[in-house]
Amino acid sequence: MSKGFIGKTSVRDNIRLSENPKYPVFKTLYTKQKKAVWFPEELNIQQDVLDYKSLTPTEKELFDSAVGYFASSELLVQNVLGNGFFPVLTDPYAKMSFTAQMFMEDIHSDFFEIIINSFDMDRKRVYDITLEDKLLQEKQELIIRAVDRITYGKADPDTLEGKKQILTSILLNNIIQEGLFFYSAFAHFFAMKDTGKMKNVVSGVELVLIDESLHLQNGIEAILTIIEENPQIVDDINFVENIRDTIIDAVELELNYLKTKFGGTTIFGVSYKELEQYMKYIADRRLEELGFDPQFNIPNNPLKFLQKEDVKKLTNFFEVSSTEYTNF
Ligand SMILES: [Fe+2]
Ligand SMILES: [Fe+2]
Repeated sequence: MSKGFIGKTSVRDNIRLSENPKYPVFKTLYTKQKKAVWFPEELNIQQDVLDYKSLTPTEKELFDSAVGYFASSELLVQNVLGNGFFPVLTDPYAKMSFTAQMFMEDIHSDFFEIIINSFDMDRKRVYDITLEDKLLQEKQELIIRAVDRITYGKADPDTLEGKKQILTSILLNNIIQEGLFFYSAFAHFFAMKDTGKMKNVVSGVELVLIDESLHLQNGIEAILTIIEENPQIVDDINFVENIRDTIIDAVELELNYLKTKFGGTTIFGVSYKELEQYMKYIADRRLEELGFDPQFNIPNNPLKFLQKEDVKKLTNFFEVSSTEYTNF
């Protein structure tokens, strides 16, 4: 029986590549991820080690939280794909694209590990940040709860209900976690760029951003492909509304987190108000990428440092769309 993009298959199936792939976009995305591979050892962060010592307590706290959040999320993303999505994926190029993503999560973990070691950070405290900060924990639990419901055969990819659950897990992992929550944390690092400190760590984070924008694209294309093959999914108005609500709720969760971190203060020159507008701007891009109307209608990306020449090249990676990818 011929399968769609997701389904139950034998390991003997789908092991041949074709000159004419069924889903050419995943061949393209595999190739882009292959070309984007980098190695954290190539960054020299010696000066950053000194810079770290000169951060104010508030700056250090923000930096540590951002490192802790990423350090404990990279392999979570990999688990979601490895345990939840990969077993039901049928297409060879799509599998290559998602294993390329999984390898990149190794690289990212490795990068944050190098920071933890080089800066002599308290490893346990850094990794425990997502357990001790209730809002960070809630951000991760949102993904974990949904994915634990589909692993080990608990969702049947050959049924409509199973497909919806699998689609939801990719939405939470690749769009909400990688495309919203990670993008919020990226802003903390990029704000640092203006202070002239931590330049090489920020360069590494720029590379992580490029990778994450490709992972976001993996997720968007997977969701659109599942919907295209199973149009009944979007006949269920409640399900569609729930997808939109899930994105909006995640934005609220992120804004609550940012409010507790920034409150009325400015850290690395960035205020809560700017980050709020930025998150809403990013959320509208994510809604549009999935075919929804925007919710917040913020006209431009409000973060000033993104307008600077040396980071302008990164703007496209903040504002992912298929057309912008063609030049990468
Ligand atoms: Fe990552
Ligand atoms: Fe990723």
